[in-house]
Amino acid sequence: MPPADAPTPPPLRFQPMAPPDAERLEAARKLFAGPCDFVKGVVAMDGLPAADRPEVCFAGRSNVGKSSLLNALTGRKGLARTSNTPGRTQEINYFALGGLEGGMGYLVDVPGYGFAEAPVAKVQAWQALLRAYLSGRVTLARAFVLIDSRHGVKPADEETMALLDRAAVTFQAVLTKADKLKPKDRDRAVEGLGRTLNAHPAAYPEVIVTSSESGEGIPDLRAVIHGLMAP
Ligand code: GTP
Ligand code: MG
Repeated sequence: MPPADAPTPPPLRFQPMAPPDAERLEAARKLFAGPCDFVKGVVAMDGLPAADRPEVCFAGRSNVGKSSLLNALTGRKGLARTSNTPGRTQEINYFALGGLEGGMGYLVDVPGYGFAEAPVAKVQAWQALLRAYLSGRVTLARAFVLIDSRHGVKPADEETMALLDRAAVTFQAVLTKADKLKPKDRDRAVEGLGRTLNAHPAAYPEVIVTSSESGEGIPDLRAVIHGLMAP
């Protein structure tokens, strides 16, 4: 035990997200319970929709659970295609939150990075598109960088974080598949992630622990997105 008059240690810079207030949670729940329509799949930068509203994207290694998270957020299982095969999502898929007419913003599902079960030339093309998108999309309000809570940060994640640093795009780390984590490994996963994030100036100081299976963290993530689209 430290003596009673010992100075309080500085708080960890990276913390699990603090619970959002009830009003924000309810507004976010309503937003995500409303329409969310597929707009288009984009294969080149000149195919992006007009940059007329804020958007957030879900980036991460192949198979980390990007598409599943989008489905969990919107409560629609088949909205984004998911699969056991890494490399399922091969285009930048736009979804209009609030519907095609007068929607508040876009949710963007992007191809994964790292290993993918697809032809090399194809993978290289979509990786180049992903880099161009992450560093050049003016209306990208935040990139969520998904990290598998069992595996932690890999070199390909670090590369993406460095790219977002250079482009000055704020990114927020989201741990996925928390349902597969033993309780004792949970703090370790957040701490390990925090150590990595310390080296990245573009990292948002709260991490979100999620499971698309159990629904953990989903209302919180909805609240964050609502805050970005309706501040
Ligand atoms: P790519 O499009 O290939 O880059 O993959 P992705 O990141 O979109 O992953 P996807 O959502 O397709 O999920 C990959 C696999 O992980 C699927 O078999 C999902 O069922 C599984 N999965 C995703 N999220 C969770 C989760 O929260 N818990 C568990 N247990 N499994 C999950
Ligand atoms: Mg996917």
